[in-house]
Amino acid sequence: MTQDEMKKAAGWAALNYVKKGSIVGVGTGSTVNHFIDALGSIKDDIQGAVSSSLASTEKLQALGIKVYDCNDIETLDIYVDGADEINAQREMIKGGGAALTREKIVAAIAKQFICIVDGSKAVPVLGKFPLPVEVIPMARSYVSRELSKLGGKPVYREGVITDNGNIILDVHDLHITQAKALEDKINSITGVVTNGLFAHRGADVVITGTEQGAKIEE
Ligand code: 5RP
Repeated sequence: MTQDEMKKAAGWAALNYVKKGSIVGVGTGSTVNHFIDALGSIKDDIQGAVSSSLASTEKLQALGIKVYDCNDIETLDIYVDGADEINAQREMIKGGGAALTREKIVAAIAKQFICIVDGSKAVPVLGKFPLPVEVIPMARSYVSRELSKLGGKPVYREGVITDNGNIILDVHDLHITQAKALEDKINSITGVVTNGLFAHRGADVVITGTEQGAKIEE
């Protein structure tokens, strides 16, 4: 199986968690794109979706799935999204696709976070994947200096503007053993919108695409 086939296995397996008549929280990325295709196959059985990015919104709408404004929804049963890294505590690094802030917002209103990944995303310690941080453009240099003080090497993601009009700093060389504390510390830097650590709001269910098909951990 290729890596994409494993992503597809995970994406389609997440369909089992979609309740009839519900509004589904939808993340962003290549694994989620398979989940969106799967949702398209049952589009008449769901009410619609809340999306975490313009890219996912476009794909959902192209399949005829109604996309609701997050402000009009109080709660979602599930939020389905990928991850760049996930550890045994189900803490994640996300934001490889620069959608971290909207992903965190939609995840915040969901009762269950269903994480869909291929096996390459599981790590013993978070941090090999550079940690994305969304930053207000005028704060870029200040936030970079503050992130350096935390021991990481921030790199400006050239040419990328988030759906919210901000920039991304990717922090290299972190070895994250206290994910919740680091999530808080980075979020308290003035000018940071949010960072890609999903430690306070980790995954509730992990679906991993493997050579043998989808492995589900509840
Ligand atoms: C986007 C994300 C994605 O979930 C993450 O980058 C994983 O992407 P993929 O499924 O393409 O490997 O956080 O901001």
